[in-house]
Amino acid sequence: MGGLLGQLAGAATSGCEIVTEVRSSRVVDPSGAAPTDIYKLMVGAIVPRPIAFVSTQAEDGILNLAPFSYFTACSANPPCILFSTTSRGANARPKDTLKNIRATGEFVVNIVSEEFAVQMNITSADCPPSVSEFEISGLTPIPSERVRPPRVAESHIQMECRLREIVTVSDSPMGGFVVIGEIVLFHLDPAVLVDPDDPFKIDPDRLRAIGRMGGPTYCRTVDRFDLQRPAWPL
Ligand SMILES: Cc1cc2nc3c(=O)[nH]c(=O)nc-3n(C[C@H](O)[C@H](O)[C@H](O)COP(=O)(O)O)c2cc1C
Repeated sequence: MGGLLGQLAGAATSGCEIVTEVRSSRVVDPSGAAPTDIYKLMVGAIVPRPIAFVSTQAEDGILNLAPFSYFTACSANPPCILFSTTSRGANARPKDTLKNIRATGEFVVNIVSEEFAVQMNITSADCPPSVSEFEISGLTPIPSERVRPPRVAESHIQMECRLREIVTVSDSPMGGFVVIGEIVLFHLDPAVLVDPDDPFKIDPDRLRAIGRMGGPTYCRTVDRFDLQRPAWPL
């Protein structure tokens, strides 16, 4: 027995009945839609997204800074993060951040707080590689300890990273390249810690990180609720 009937039979024997009376849904088959529309759909649906504010340095020394909200943690041992840069324009040009990481294997992920959201946004302008986004935004570069690209002084949490791997998901226009980096050093502003003697616990009310929604919209992280994870058996 194949198809939906087969699935229903399988579900019944595994003790979970699939309800067949469901409200109608609009379906979108991505193979028949424009990538710009699919992008719009995805950034509206996958929310909120944290923001990796990534500093890099070109081989000629020019400093680069740009935000990326296709971003998350992916391992704690070793500590790793990933973010994705999509290609730019109809001829799918790689972004400067990707070029710099490919060339140097190093970057810093800075966490974005409300107080410098406006400056962060300025760095997302499509400026030529010869112009540093530190200059156009007024944000302050400060030296890192283990990698060459500087940290953003205004950021309360900075993570020095070494490249582990770049995965080419697609090099078509709007396709993505996933950058996986290992965090080799964390920098934490004591002002955002619950207890300045314990570097492992961040106070979200002091950090005031922001998230990205669809379009030009952002969200704050000050309205929260707790749910304790259940033990098994329930
Ligand atoms: C909050 C925010 C999040 C962004 N997230 C992404 C992202 O996840 N991937 C991406 O390719 N571009 C993203 N962008 C756009 C890049 O920041 C922008 O293309 C930037 O100019 C890239 O700079 P670069 O060429 O110096 O690397 C984002 C922009 C903003 C404002």
